Amino acid sequence: MRRGVLIVGLVTIFAGVTALCTLGRVWADNAAAAVDYTKILPADLVKDTPKGKLANPYKDTQADVVAEGGKFLQSYSCSGCHGGGGGGGMCPALTNDIWVYGGDDDTLFRLVTLGSDELQKLGYTRVGRENVVGPMPPFGTIIKSADDLWKILAFVRSKYSGDPAYKFGTPPDQQ
Ligand code: HEC
Repeated sequence: MRRGVLIVGLVTIFAGVTALCTLGRVWADNAAAAVDYTKILPADLVKDTPKGKLANPYKDTQADVVAEGGKFLQSYSCSGCHGGGGGGGMCPALTNDIWVYGGDDDTLFRLVTLGSDELQKLGYTRVGRENVVGPMPPFGTIIKSADDLWKILAFVRSKYSGDPAYKFGTPPDQQ
């Protein structure tokens, strides 16, 4: 009899814990999905997101997104340094397979947001060498939303003209 009560108790506790875990997971998933990139500054998104977890919600095959990104590249004056198509000017090309700190979404988003100096303070180093070496200025509070920056980066990807294997940086198996 006692043992029966104990088992029922244990089963109840187990079911409770399982339910709580599920709830917790659902909540965490929703919290992650709930980031509205149009309402958050790039600087805040970088602060709130652990390293390696930033991923572009857009693809460079989305023509409307790419067109908008190209306009932002001009309006945020990235083109003044990198050229209108991102092909380089007085500053590094964004379209070749040399990535100064790495070519993945997370690194590019952080570089544009924080600028070279802040990025280096966080331990990032130049692993690729472009013709021009200089600091990228921080744009994390100038670009008005993370959404705008993701669109710019989708545009940059769409102009990529290097070796396809290096479009998103050095492939993991070669690092
Ligand atoms: C004042 C000139 C200047 C402006 C304006 C500028 N950049 Fe840069 N950018 C640089 C320099 C210089 C580097 C190289 C950074 C380094 O070596 O630390 C760079 C690097 C980059 C890279 C990495 C390129 C690579 O090959 O790894 C990206 C992506 C980038 N910039 C995007 C942008 C975007 C997007 C904007 C506009 C929001 C912008 N830049 C505005 C000067 C500029």
